Amino acid sequence: MLIRYKRSYEKIAMGLLSFVPSEKELKSLLNTIRLYEEEENWQLFLWKEEDIIGIIGIEIVGDKAELRHLSVNPSHRNQGVGRRMVKALQEMIGSKYQIVPSEQTKQFYEKCLKPIADEE
Ligand SMILES: CC(C)(COP(=O)(O)OP(=O)(O)OC[C@H]1O[C@@H](n2cnc3c(N)ncnc32)[C@H](O)[C@@H]1OP(=O)(O)O)[C@@H](O)C(=O)NCCC(=O)NCCS
Repeated sequence: MLIRYKRSYEKIAMGLLSFVPSEKELKSLLNTIRLYEEEENWQLFLWKEEDIIGIIGIEIVGDKAELRHLSVNPSHRNQGVGRRMVKALQEMIGSKYQIVPSEQTKQFYEKCLKPIADEE
């Protein structure tokens, strides 16, 4: 399930965000976490199954929610977590905002819109 970010999750959030290509440098990462903590239109959610294993962040601009950050703990990748996060975000905010990807999340987001390919 998606849970709203709060400061007590800062360490785990920074760990997950550090896998995102734009956040490899500590300076960018610190700037990003500050945006999510301080700006009302930047919203961050953690994905919790048994543990917290993913993160998804949006920037609200008008009636659009731009998908800024998406990351899954490497030990839990390729098990559908990324897709489940996008679907849960859609269910949570989709009636209010149109979700649009950023340059960085576009490829994966578009993959999420397609049905899962049949097993060969
Ligand atoms: C992108 C990411 C969140 C996907 O999470 P995940 O839980 O592994 O995703 P799912 O299991 O739901 O889907 C896996 C599928 O997405 C594909 N995929 C992974 N990263 C992708 C990307 N950047 N673009 C397009 N497809 C991607 C996988 O190859 C796999 O494809 P398959 O189903 O055809 O085998 C994860 O790989 C990650 O954290 N990457 C590092 C962070 C990052 O690069 N974020 C920015 C891009 S969103």
